[in-house]
Amino acid sequence: SGKMAYALASAARRLGAEVCLVSGPVALEPPRSVDLVAVESAEQMHQAVMDRLPGVDIFIAAAAVSDYRPLAPAAQKIKKHSDTMQIELVRNPDILADVARLSPRPYVAGFAAESENLLENACSKLSAKRVDLVIANDISRTDTGFNSDENECWLVGPGYEHRIERRAKGLIAEAILVHIADKLEPQG
Ligand code: C5P
Repeated sequence: SGKMAYALASAARRLGAEVCLVSGPVALEPPRSVDLVAVESAEQMHQAVMDRLPGVDIFIAAAAVSDYRPLAPAAQKIKKHSDTMQIELVRNPDILADVARLSPRPYVAGFAAESENLLENACSKLSAKRVDLVIANDISRTDTGFNSDENECWLVGPGYEHRIERRAKGLIAEAILVHIADKLEPQG
């Protein structure tokens, strides 16, 4: 739905950050005073992110990017011919992993939507994508997460797992950002 990403962008503004929000098509009002970059495809999102990365302190990947795209998109409506059809797919770039590979790079946080073994899978993602933080959501639940206004999650970083109890996405967003700010500049 984009709700978590938009909540993060608003919370970052409230906390005083300069925010660039690279967004696919969503049915949400953009937060005020953010630099909104509208994209439609994973490749466009990848390019837009890479173009704007220099000088960025924190990169948070919250988009549910499609893992594959059609190899040869049809220019016109596809007519039905047979009872089955196949569409060949190719892998999309992994924006989060590509940003995490850069040097120098910002603090990098990504999301993990898991339906089982939440913390184990989040930990694997942390090391596989070499990011600083994975925000893990349990999507087997129907009352939080995808398209919901509330969420609960785990913040999984190197050597720690920190739970954020269920609350409105705006408050989850603030808790995530305060956590990141503290990692960047620990307070006494
Ligand atoms: O590997 P998986 O798709 O589960 O990882 C989810 C995280 O990776 C999310 O932060 C999502 O925004 C990011 N992602 C990405 N580019 C992709 C797929 C996922 O940045 N092509």
